[in-house]
Amino acid sequence: MLLRLIILFASCQALTGWADEPDPASFRIDGNAGSGQLIYRTYCLTCHGETGAGDGPSGKRLRPRPYDLSNVTNMAGVTDWTIYMAIKEGGQRVGKSVLMTSWKGLLSEQDIQDVAAYVRTLAAPEAERE
Ligand code: HEC
Repeated sequence: MLLRLIILFASCQALTGWADEPDPASFRIDGNAGSGQLIYRTYCLTCHGETGAGDGPSGKRLRPRPYDLSNVTNMAGVTDWTIYMAIKEGGQRVGKSVLMTSWKGLLSEQDIQDVAAYVRTLAAPEAERE
């Protein structure tokens, strides 16, 4: 009985560990950019700036400077997975600066998805912006 419990516990651990890490190739952001905008303005604007250019009051002083989230060409090369994981787990998880901290302690899964969706709109062609 005890052994069975231990095995059950171990397999749950393995399962949740796996569930925490979405597959980089198939992961798609599934959030509401409208709700994400408020989260962005509250927590992210100070570094990433109003338009995402990395020129917020605190962002200007950082080295490296926050990446230009509004640059259409650059952002086309950044996957949904990278955006989501940078926000959730922090910059280091995606090979970026440690100054980009993990937000999973403060933001819910839905918040992370919403703000990730908003980040995507910063580099969208004018016509697609909400
Ligand atoms: C203390 C300043 C700071 C705050 C606050 C901050 N960031 Fe960052 N962020 C950075 C830095 C520095 C980097 C690493 C350099 C880079 O790639 O922009 C970064 C990286 C990122 C990246 C990765 C960009 C890429 O191309 O890989 C995303 C996405 C991002 N931040 C979104 C957010 C969101 C959303 C928030 C709010 C929940 C936020 N950041 C809050 C400083 C900050």
